[in-house]
This record gives sequence, structure tokens and C-alpha cells, in this order.
Amino acid sequence: MPALAERMSRAKPSAIMVVAEKAKKLKAEGRDIISFSIGIPNFLPEAHVYEAAAEALKRDSGAYGSNRGSDALLDAFLQHLSEAGFDGYERRNVASGVGAKHVLFNLMYAILNEGDEVLIPTPYWTSYVDIAEILNAPQRLLHCGAEQNYKLLPEQIAAAVTPKTRVLLFNNPNNPTGMVYTPAEIKALAVELKRHPNLWVLSDDIYNRMIFDGLQYSHLVMAEPSLRNRVVLIDSISKTYGMPGWRVGMIAGPPEIATAMATLNSNHITNLPEVVVAAAIAAYLGSQNKPQVMCEAFEAKRNEVMRTLDAIPGVKCPRPQGAFYAFPDISVAFGRRHGDSLISNDIDFCAVLLEKTGVACVPGSAFGEPKAIRISYTCKAAELTEGLRRMAGFFAELSE
Ligand SMILES: Cc1ncc(COP(=O)(O)O)c(C=O)c1O
Repeated sequence: MPALAERMSRAKPSAIMVVAEKAKKLKAEGRDIISFSIGIPNFLPEAHVYEAAAEALKRDSGAYGSNRGSDALLDAFLQHLSEAGFDGYERRNVASGVGAKHVLFNLMYAILNEGDEVLIPTPYWTSYVDIAEILNAPQRLLHCGAEQNYKLLPEQIAAAVTPKTRVLLFNNPNNPTGMVYTPAEIKALAVELKRHPNLWVLSDDIYNRMIFDGLQYSHLVMAEPSLRNRVVLIDSISKTYGMPGWRVGMIAGPPEIATAMATLNSNHITNLPEVVVAAAIAAYLGSQNKPQVMCEAFEAKRNEVMRTLDAIPGVKCPRPQGAFYAFPDISVAFGRRHGDSLISNDIDFCAVLLEKTGVACVPGSAFGEPKAIRISYTCKAAELTEGLRRMAGFFAELSE
């Protein structure tokens, strides 16, 4: 067989999907599995979304659509942005793609020359590194450990930027940690970023409607409007509206970047399907009751997760304030045994936990932090309670 492109040697399947697949396989074999692994919201959108999709089917144009996204979709997104506190964006600033993952790929493809450096606060969402790898962009990982609440500090940016640095990947609220930056923390980062005029910031804010404890959502361009010409906001309907399979991601940024997205779309996807676009518009413009109710439900689940984790001796978990993840440092278990099984690292921990209790979590090393594991807590309430009970029991059974 003729060879594949060299870049494919750097492309690898998502580590999260590997765990999720293993849990699924064990379940199919009849094991009693509780999955805390995959980051799906686990709820469906409201009826008006399905009605809009059904209506669009009846009115199918049978034609290709806009590469950037239909005007109606762009306007719906602009209204959504305005409700979140972003003003001054117009159609020329926004564009669509097949989910946030696709727009992130396109953004990095549009911005990075081979050899350009990418700053990635760590723990990170796995695809940031995977996409940078495919594009052969060296990554500089900025370690943000539990001791700094998994949050990036301005001095880390100051120390890391070189003439080769082109992009900072910023994620707030964060996957895998669930941490949310306060307005004061965002302001401090924005002030530092002003000092680096050649740096793009890709701000992945797809969880921005899932914030707890009454904490105010803030963003770099709200704190420093002058950053608008190089900060790109990324949004998605996947998590907020319970629509991960519908595949709609949006960006807002300078007109040049939105046009670059449309040009890339014109060369692969052409356009989003009409039915999907109608559903996304309905999600953005319709009742926001479901996202609100789900956010409250996730906050209650976060409380339950934290009650369990806080009670386990030696486990440290900065309290998440958004999204639907917790990221406990479980390194207290390293060097200890569960029955005959020695736990040397996070990968052993997750493998033994799954084997012995049927609870599936993702090892932190998938996110660049091997001292931790990720718990995604969107499963049914009874499953969450049972999974946490098993996890606490597992820790209690560890021996030296
Ligand atoms: C931080 C972050 N960004 C982007 C994505 C991808 O979202 P989408 O479903 O819109 O591609 C995810 C999905 O898990 C995510 O957690």
C-alpha cells in the first residue's frame, strides 16, 4: 500500500473515547458499569428545537448553503452573544462550523505556520494538543496544578511567550477541571495579554452558560476591548442545549478570521445542513429554560461529588464552579494496593477502579496532569450516588 501522509503518524484517536469504548464494551458483556468518563450533557433539547427541525424538513431548499453560515444562524448567534454581554459584533465577525472541535481545528489551521508555538494551560482539553500535533505546531504546556486551582496566572504567560509563540488556547469554564475564572482573574490575564500583540487567543467558552454559585461569567474582550482584534471566542450548542450530535460550533472574532473560516468551509464542508441550522437557531433564540434547569441540576450534582471527594483522606479537589467535571488529585493512592493490584499511576488507578468497582473515569494524563482523574458527573442521579459510594469504598480499601 502507498504510504499515508507523514502528519498521520502524529494523529491519534481521542484518549477519552478509548475509556468510554472500554466501559461500553464491559457493559455489553453484562458488567454493572457506571460511566463518569465521557463529557456528554445527557439531556435532550426542548420540543421547540425538534419542531424547528421538522419544519425545516418541510421547507427543504434542496440547495447548497452559505459557507459562513446562513444569515439567520449568524443573527441568532449574535443575539446569543449579546445576551451573554458581548456587544459590537456583526455578521462579518462570526462564522459557523461542524461543532467547536471543527472550528478549533480550522482556527489553528488558519493561524499556525509549521513551527509556530502554541501555549496550552495544563490540564487541557485533549484535542488542543492533538490538533497542534497534526499541524506540527510545538506545544508549550503551562502547568497549572491543583495548588493554583488549575488556573493560568499572568506571570506564566509572561515567562512563556517567545517570538515564535502564536497562539494561547484558553478555556473557561474549563474541561477537565470545571474551574471558572473570576472577573478579576480574567482582567489580570487580559492586562498581561495586551503586552503580547503578536499572540492570538483562542478562547473556548463553550460551557459559558453552565456556571454555579452565582459567579459572574467574564471574558478577555469584556475586560479589555482592545483585545478584540486577536481574541476569538468559540461557542457550541453541544453542551448548553444538550445537542452534541447536531454538530454546530460558532466563532466570533475579527472579520479576517471569520472570513478564513468561511474559506476553509468552502473547501471541505461547504455548509451546515439546513435542518441542523434550523435546530441551532431555535436553540439560541427559543426558551432558555432547559439550559437553566440543567445548570441548576449540575450544580446540585457538583455538590454531591464534592461532599464525597472532600471526605476522602488525601484527595485534593479544587472546587469546580462550572461545566460538569471534577478533577481530583488522587495521587495519594499511588504506591498503594487494592487487593493484589498495585496502583502506580493514574492509568493504573482508573484501570483497577473500573475492574474492581465498575466505575469508569478518565486518567488525568489524558489531559496532561497525571496526578488526577476526571469525573464527568452528568449521569442519572441514582447512578451518580452509587458510583460515588463505590469510589469512596475503593479508597477505603486501599492498603500499603
Ligand atoms: C473544552 C471543549 N471544547 C470543545 C469541545 C468540543 O465541542 P463540540 O461538540 O462543539 O465539538 C469540547 C467537548 O467536549 C470541550 O470540552
